[in-house]
Amino acid sequence: MSETKANQIVLAARPEGKPRLADFRLEETAIPTPGPRQVLLRVEYLSLDPYMRGRMDDRESYAPPNPLGAVMPGEAVATVVSSRHPACSAGDTVSAHTGWRTHAVLDGANLRKVDPAIAPVTTALGVLGMPGFTAYSGLHAIGKPAPGETVVVAAASGPVGSLVGQLAGIAGARAVGIAGGSEKCAYVKDELGFDVAVDHRSPEFAAKLAAVCPDGIDVYFENVGGAVWQAVLPLLNKFARVPVSGLIAQYNAIGPSKGVDHLPATMRAILSKSLTLRGFINYDFASEYYHAFLREVGAGIANGRIRYREDFVDGLEKAPEAFIGMLEGRNFGKLIVRVNEDLTHESDNKEKK
Ligand SMILES: NC(=O)c1ccc[n+]([C@@H]2O[C@H](COP(=O)([O-])OP(=O)(O)OC[C@H]3O[C@@H](n4cnc5c(N)ncnc54)[C@H](OP(=O)(O)O)[C@@H]3O)[C@@H](O)[C@H]2O)c1
Repeated sequence: MSETKANQIVLAARPEGKPRLADFRLEETAIPTPGPRQVLLRVEYLSLDPYMRGRMDDRESYAPPNPLGAVMPGEAVATVVSSRHPACSAGDTVSAHTGWRTHAVLDGANLRKVDPAIAPVTTALGVLGMPGFTAYSGLHAIGKPAPGETVVVAAASGPVGSLVGQLAGIAGARAVGIAGGSEKCAYVKDELGFDVAVDHRSPEFAAKLAAVCPDGIDVYFENVGGAVWQAVLPLLNKFARVPVSGLIAQYNAIGPSKGVDHLPATMRAILSKSLTLRGFINYDFASEYYHAFLREVGAGIANGRIRYREDFVDGLEKAPEAFIGMLEGRNFGKLIVRVNEDLTHESDNKEKK
């Protein structure tokens, strides 16, 4: 990477349905100069996350849309190149909302130091970062699994779903994972230790899910919506809890659904089964759960009880293609872009722990 020029990827156009490569634009800029209390960061690893799809649309959500022409939002692990903030020194490793770029200047107060002695620094973007905290907080604050109960989660090989199932197992519950394809299902069951995994791409998916949930479902951690939710709904037990974390099956949808109106049946089930459905954004629970999350999940990683998988892509310019692929399930584990070219010698693309 040249240290005189920086690169960034901006939102070039708002997608109609599935994003296309032309919706992104790679731009070259000068490396910015930090002002008072600011630091200059060199991005090492950039996290790609499903929420970024929502920021590409011009519609109301829990966060404002990304303006056209603005750098795509995102969190990264970065190295402090130079600092004008007392809390940071050159050489520190931090996590920060840099966006999709090679270099960023940010207020030093908005950085979180990452200690490489605790775990590999990339875990700050996955199992020990925002996705991991989403799993931990949603499951404990809303799902509340009890020993012997059945917990179901989809996108089960990804950073949120993989931790939900493992934490459910630690709580003494039976963990059922839903994933796309036999390879991901084998990983979820054999490597992550879920009790069972079901392939949502199977034509018999709904019947297979019912067969592996003979006692119904007590907690459904909702990551995808769509057809998976329709298969889960009839299996929910009385007083089941549904933390609604994400709806990735719907992120590329255009306009209102033209299919069957499922709302009346859904409302009837909510009423008749006394269901709890609660949406949440991970930071809703930060004050209550964040320290316990770092302590418990950090310990689980250190002792090998909690496992995770990372899927690396090399080069900032590959971020759009990788992001589009994630929305279709082409990632296998936490999707991370190695932005700094010096890191690309870490050639094993799919790394497991
Ligand atoms: N509420 C919050 O604060 C919060 C924070 C972080 C993430 N989330 C949400 O959590 C969910 C998982 O995020 P993640 O970062 O862990 O992503 P991820 O699992 O790494 O990637 C997304 C996965 O979703 C699955 N998927 C895509 N379309 C699907 C469909 N139509 N039906 C079933 N599965 C589908 C794919 O896996 P398969 O190949 O297995 O289908 C894909 O790999 C997302 O909905 C995200 O928006 C919420």
